[in-house]
Amino acid sequence: MKRDRWRASLASAKEAVLCLSHKVEKLSTLNSREHIIISITSPSFLPLLLATRERQIEEGKAVRVTGQGGERIGQEHSDDRSCPCRMSSGERRCAQNCVKYRSGGWRRFPSSYIPAVGFGTVALTDTPGVVKAGIRKAIQVGYRHFDTSAYYGTEALLGEVLREAFEDAELKREDVFVTTKLWMGDCHKDGVLPAIQKSLKTLQLEYVDLYLIHWPLRVRKNGSKHKSVRDIQPEDFLPLDLISTWQAMEKCRDLGLAKAIGVSNFSAKKLENLLPHVRYVPSVNQVEMHPTFRQSQLRDFCKRNGIQVVAWAPLAAPGVFYGVRSVIESPVIKEIAVKHGKTPAQVALRWGIENGVCVIPKSYNESRIIENFGVQDWSLTEQDHEGINNLPESRMYKALMFCNDTTSPYRSYEDLWDEPMHTPPQTVDDAVGGAAEYVIAMIS
Ligand SMILES: NC(=O)c1ccc[n+]([C@@H]2O[C@H](COP(=O)([O-])OP(=O)(O)OC[C@H]3O[C@@H](n4cnc5c(N)ncnc54)[C@H](OP(=O)(O)O)[C@@H]3O)[C@@H](O)[C@H]2O)c1
Repeated sequence: MKRDRWRASLASAKEAVLCLSHKVEKLSTLNSREHIIISITSPSFLPLLLATRERQIEEGKAVRVTGQGGERIGQEHSDDRSCPCRMSSGERRCAQNCVKYRSGGWRRFPSSYIPAVGFGTVALTDTPGVVKAGIRKAIQVGYRHFDTSAYYGTEALLGEVLREAFEDAELKREDVFVTTKLWMGDCHKDGVLPAIQKSLKTLQLEYVDLYLIHWPLRVRKNGSKHKSVRDIQPEDFLPLDLISTWQAMEKCRDLGLAKAIGVSNFSAKKLENLLPHVRYVPSVNQVEMHPTFRQSQLRDFCKRNGIQVVAWAPLAAPGVFYGVRSVIESPVIKEIAVKHGKTPAQVALRWGIENGVCVIPKSYNESRIIENFGVQDWSLTEQDHEGINNLPESRMYKALMFCNDTTSPYRSYEDLWDEPMHTPPQTVDDAVGGAAEYVIAMIS
């Protein structure tokens, strides 16, 4: 019988050890916190595990229970009822390669589902008409996972298209997975609830499926003036308290405003500092990831902690001012693409999926919308993976504008991202990453 593994993590070493009749496989100390890996051989043991956790919570002790080694993409569904793709139990695998993922806490155990291929909605130069037509096309093609942010200025457009689709009975609310994000101006305990309420109003939704802290940073609000990331000045940074901000995110989940909550652009160190204080483990960490920046250490960390990785810029954003063409123009990827009769973009997306992450490519171009969805029902070989895993790596979005010695919580690139810089920036754009066109709205 397949063995499920669960990790129970106590918030402090002083707290009582979870006492279960299951075999305790390993007791380890991580950051002076006790972690116990518990093996259970049948889901029927879960109520006991969860009841134990409930008791701990009643006693005011924050104990979390996280899934370990969750199901890989494309696995057979064991419980298809909550899958947005509505796959029937007779089918072998979900048409969208849904990743089974934890929705943020044990209450919704066993899990929810998030479609592995999502639709990114950043709109830099794209007009509202183009954005709406692109989203409509995406729905028609089969995308059911949409990624937006309070920052992108596309929440309203996505909301309008979804509303139309609901009214036309093309879609039901539960058919789609909608992610939006908390912007830096609201990244503090009192900012979260009003921010999600505003996003929901803009999206015309009663809840989002996933609400993310967009960046582990807080900047001051700037009246009604719209400001780009690039315009952020050292004096704009405000003290950051990620723990109380996360607690406010947890309230959004308790209130049903977000089915799941997570983070974005968090390094392993930041997650490690946060995890001992959470009631709900972040369901997702959305980070830059593509074949030329593979995030293997962060992915390992997230996997160990039951956090689903979602890859932004899964194509390395070719043609975008902050992007690079290292993926689309890689001779190695081109060769793999020719071999499979696919495009380099499809190879990159397939590589992401086969590494257990969700990918959210952005295109409002009709043929590329279709192309980017064409990553099901074929596979890369081990040799293909080896070729891609040997490509040189460099973080594309270095975000050095978020680092300074005085006001930012992060002094340097290493401090922000944990890793040493692979390739020093060659140009100002390269160093900064964000630029004026990036923003349609926010810090308002
Ligand atoms: N959490 C964060 O901080 C964060 C940051 C950035 C982005 N995101 C999210 O991630 C999504 C995707 O990231 P991204 O937009 O930065 O990068 P991306 O999806 O890797 O790349 C988008 C660029 O690639 C082009 N493209 C799309 N499909 C293509 C294909 N099949 N062949 C060749 N070129 C193709 C697009 O051009 P066309 O539009 O002309 O097709 C666009 O210029 C965003 O939309 C957003 O939802 C999150």
